[in-house]
Amino acid sequence: MKHDIIEKNTGLLGILIAVVISIGGLVEIVPLMLSQETTTAAPGIEPYPALQLEGRDIYLREGCYNCHSQMVRPLRGETERYGHYSVAGESVYDHPFQFGSKRTGPDLARVGGRYSDEWQRLHLQNPRDLVPESNMPGFPWLTNAAIDASLTGRKMAALRVVGVPYTDADIKGAAEAVRGKTELDALVAYLQGLGIAAKNWK
Ligand code: HEC
Repeated sequence: MKHDIIEKNTGLLGILIAVVISIGGLVEIVPLMLSQETTTAAPGIEPYPALQLEGRDIYLREGCYNCHSQMVRPLRGETERYGHYSVAGESVYDHPFQFGSKRTGPDLARVGGRYSDEWQRLHLQNPRDLVPESNMPGFPWLTNAAIDASLTGRKMAALRVVGVPYTDADIKGAAEAVRGKTELDALVAYLQGLGIAAKNWK
């Protein structure tokens, strides 16, 4: 009964458990890190333009992800409601990605173009003006808050370090692209870009 030796020796048991779990983990994770499908951009997916990038940061700052996922599951009920299911290659430029799982509100992965810019602005200021039963909070302070244009290029440069292919021209033009824009402008630009590429997927 060699197994007795392991069962009676907790230290050894612990080490062996760690070894087995590590192998299982590596088998699942390493292929994902190397596979083309998960590391190259899906068709039509580009790095976020400057204004959308700023909008994404506001999405994170305001905690929108606490109530909204960005992950359409490959199930009929989901694809009928939202559109094409999410694929790994559409998040390659997202650091960090926004898949999420909490859905107090609807999934937002395909929300781009679903409503007008004006609808999005009014809804973010006070959701109940448009959807009376909504329990989403309003974000009225975004309306007049200016984007700090001096930081946009630096954010792009930082993202380039982790593999987002921004060009020197993108980084140079970043401040100009967001000058005079408000946080609300940026957030709406971000929302309106979500899932646009997926409209052309079969
Ligand atoms: C407390 C949870 C909560 C938070 C936080 C929240 N939302 Fe919502 N959101 C909802 C709910 C519930 C709905 C559905 C009712 C409605 O349309 O207002 C919704 C709807 C939406 C819609 C319309 C989606 C559709 O397909 O109809 C958008 C766009 C949206 N939210 C964006 C945002 C953004 C951007 C933020 C962060 C600034 C945010 N939400 C924060 C709960 C939330």
